[in-house]
Amino acid sequence: MPFESNLKQIAIRRPDDWHLHLRDGDILKGVVGHTSRVFGRAVIMPNLMPPITSVDAAIQYRERIIAAVPAADSFTPLMTAYLTDDFSPNELERGYKEGVFFAAKLYPANSTTNASEGVTDLNAIDSLLETMESIRMPLLIHGEVVDPSVDIFDREAVFIDRHLIPLLKKFPDLRVVLEHITTEHAVQFVESSSANIAATITPHHLHINRNAMFLGGLRSDFYCLPVAKRERHRLALRRAAISGEPCFFLGTDSAPHLRSSKESSCGCAGIFNAPFALESYAEAFDQEGMLDRLQAFASEFGALFYGLPFNKSSITLVRDSHIVPNILEVSGQNQSVERLVPFHAGDSLRWRVFYHENN
Ligand code: DOR
Ligand code: ZN
Repeated sequence: MPFESNLKQIAIRRPDDWHLHLRDGDILKGVVGHTSRVFGRAVIMPNLMPPITSVDAAIQYRERIIAAVPAADSFTPLMTAYLTDDFSPNELERGYKEGVFFAAKLYPANSTTNASEGVTDLNAIDSLLETMESIRMPLLIHGEVVDPSVDIFDREAVFIDRHLIPLLKKFPDLRVVLEHITTEHAVQFVESSSANIAATITPHHLHINRNAMFLGGLRSDFYCLPVAKRERHRLALRRAAISGEPCFFLGTDSAPHLRSSKESSCGCAGIFNAPFALESYAEAFDQEGMLDRLQAFASEFGALFYGLPFNKSSITLVRDSHIVPNILEVSGQNQSVERLVPFHAGDSLRWRVFYHENN
């Protein structure tokens, strides 16, 4: 790559992860430290089994997360509500006003992992969206159609044209984050929209295109949803991430699955990138010669969109090449040891997060 920098280390304001899956129980305990070590806050996805569909469930899940965070880390989980066809607008508003629900997540029914209870018809949730628009509560969208007649590689673009554009016409003041965008179409849509619309970009979509899933065989560790697209889309995402436009910010979509769920005839969607997430973004920004834009993308634009203060502390990235382990072990149910494959397994990464105590 032509523009690599020779910096030895960079300090940036502590970042936040605006899209994260932590799961629950033993896996939660095994994975949360990978995020809380580096990130100050994270928006926690509600697609548990059963999903988070009430204020009480969100409060209890938040307590379990906080209990699982290593004692040395200060970390704030920002909870989301899982929208269903019959979610009550009153419950949503109460959760938002009481500071429990930070936002609400829209999964089109059956669009991804644990989305079977998601929304079956966007027109059926007008009263929820009306409420959200009036109280300024952000709507986080998994933007894919589930129509089986639509090619899987087109599902994001079709969602934007078929559903998102009409939805925003109906609710022009709704604040929307189009999560984990994967296409040039989404990039262009978000950058040409109003300041109410933003998008998160994952580290994996900056590094892999769809070939990764088929490299020498079927590689379920690179399978996530929305699925990685053609190279030209990966390059469009890179341009968006490094653009310095505040509508694009960091959201890892780190989504751990046990080996048994990945290595099966129907492997689950999800890439576990939390262990080296910031390093992965730094690698991409460095390859583009744009490390000086990393702080804004990772630590500022999300907070600005959501109207939150920036984190006060900083973290340091040190240039120190290292090989990502092939497997990470976390303790699972009944003292068992679960094996998770981190994103970049076996790859060399050139940046390492230098950990500050008491972040
Ligand atoms: O790849 C994904 N995994 N995409 C999602 O939207 C959900 C996530 C998960 O929960 O595993
Ligand atoms: Zn997700």
